[in-house]
Amino acid sequence: MKRPGLTVLASGRGSNFRAILDAIEAGTLTARVDRLISDQQDAAALSLAAERGVPAEYIAWPRGGRQDFEAAVTQRVEEAGSALIVLAGFMRLLSADFVDRFAGRVLNIHPSLLPAFKGLDAPGQAVAYGVKVSGCTVHLVTADMDAGPILAQVAVPVLEGDTGERLAARILVQEHRLYPATIAAYLAEREARHD
Ligand code: GAR
Repeated sequence: MKRPGLTVLASGRGSNFRAILDAIEAGTLTARVDRLISDQQDAAALSLAAERGVPAEYIAWPRGGRQDFEAAVTQRVEEAGSALIVLAGFMRLLSADFVDRFAGRVLNIHPSLLPAFKGLDAPGQAVAYGVKVSGCTVHLVTADMDAGPILAQVAVPVLEGDTGERLAARILVQEHRLYPATIAAYLAEREARHD
């Protein structure tokens, strides 16, 4: 049987993208990455894709031109027949039209226990607020930012003297386990439902 394909969108470092590739290689995630797309020309995720032999592409996100970016991604996803669109550190907001078109097929990971601390620098927000537990969340993407149905979460304690950076680093370790495992479980569930 053909492995389900993933189109991965990443804006930066790409460590979650790497964790997905590693899980595929290790056989814990039965999938293939059809393509890595970045909205940032200098994203480390693009070099990582090249190193790992994954087709990769920079697509500009022009000021006021989100439709062009989304049209290009739609075309790539449909051409490849990707089962899912996986946001891995993708720091842009997709339109309602785009997420409705791929309803139930766009996943995101966010470094907080949603619905707490949406948006940028969630670990920094958690430290500033003074919560004692934070973590990470994998969820389906809807038109509202960081607000779609939750698929999985892991809690990470906030330690005495934590900075946003230190907490983010400990959360990231958990993200790297949680994201591939949740993608695998979600694909298995979809397969069982035959959709
Ligand atoms: C990760 O911590 C991810 O959860 C976060 O950006 C980082 C990307 O790291 N995403 C968001 O904050 C989305 N709102 P990576 O590029 O090394 O995977």
